[in-house]
Amino acid sequence: MGSPRRRSRIGFIGAGAVGKSIAIALSRQGYPVVAVASRSYSSAQELAHIIDGVVAYQTPQEAARASDVVFITSPDDAIGEVVSTVPWTNTQAVAHCSGASSVDVLDPASMLGASVGTFHPMNAFSSVENGVRSLPGTTFGIEGDDEMKGYLRQMALDIGGRPIFLRREDKVLYHLSGVMMGGLLSAEAAVAAQLWEQLGMTRDDGVKALAPMIRQVADNLETSGIPGALAGPYVRGDLGTIRKHLQTLRARAPDVLPLYCHMALAGLPFALEKGALDPAKAKKIRDLVEEYKGLSGSGPTGEHHWA
Ligand SMILES: NC(=O)c1ccc[n+]([C@@H]2O[C@H](COP(=O)([O-])OP(=O)(O)OC[C@H]3O[C@@H](n4cnc5c(N)ncnc54)[C@H](OP(=O)(O)O)[C@@H]3O)[C@@H](O)[C@H]2O)c1
Repeated sequence: MGSPRRRSRIGFIGAGAVGKSIAIALSRQGYPVVAVASRSYSSAQELAHIIDGVVAYQTPQEAARASDVVFITSPDDAIGEVVSTVPWTNTQAVAHCSGASSVDVLDPASMLGASVGTFHPMNAFSSVENGVRSLPGTTFGIEGDDEMKGYLRQMALDIGGRPIFLRREDKVLYHLSGVMMGGLLSAEAAVAAQLWEQLGMTRDDGVKALAPMIRQVADNLETSGIPGALAGPYVRGDLGTIRKHLQTLRARAPDVLPLYCHMALAGLPFALEKGALDPAKAKKIRDLVEEYKGLSGSGPTGEHHWA
């Protein structure tokens, strides 16, 4: 098996947001990034222009041949296809950066004797500039044999990340926790911002108002943890305010009512754990929210006979 080291030559297959961000961060830390290929040659060339010493190749096979360690940073669905087209050797190592796929997808490489691993940055990459900036402090989910784990762990530390080792059976659970905090939280933010159109403003106005709250919530989570970071009417037990929210959603944004109710119910155990909310008040809140959740948006709006 290949035994990757600090001076091993590194190549990337897939020159998108994650591939470019990690390649740039590694190069800045003195790792020898030497090769790149992508679906389009122009994407590979873009990375080669950014990092001294990187050669853009036309094919994944050529980039792999020039490298000791290869990161496959293509979309998840292409990893299997890419790995099976390269004639790996037992002196090479290959890793992918997918959170949802396990190391198993690299079986065609391990069957040829290559070391295999995964190196998943738990963060949201929408551009290379933001991606490189976000890597310090990012958790990296790592799988692999002992040598690969040691190599990738040190690599994560060198770029300021926080390495953790994952069991392959836990990979999807690990990944969906990230999607809940990334893509799905963004979707919730979009729904909340959209409500601002009913205030006679735009959803961009909503984003301007709400985005600083997301930053503050992240800060509160890091400094106070759970349940300390929880705040708001559910933690205070403000039943009157909660009733107003539910009535207003029912009347003015009934489609949002189920989402609001599900989130409120999911948070109640943590509000109780914080200790400020007494169990009797929590039960009243739960009953009220459950009642509205069942009504969802399908009934006649503005009808509050149960409240
Ligand atoms: N985005 C995130 O927030 C995030 C976070 C953590 C992990 N990841 C993982 O990182 C990996 C890459 O994601 P990404 O967001 O960087 O995707 P991306 O920005 O779409 O980049 C993917 C790159 O792979 C290239 N590509 C597509 N098909 C290919 C193929 N068959 N062979 C070689 N290259 C191919 C693309 O082609 P072109 O040459 O046409 O540009 C593109 O440059 C995925 O496994 C993803 O799950 C993503």
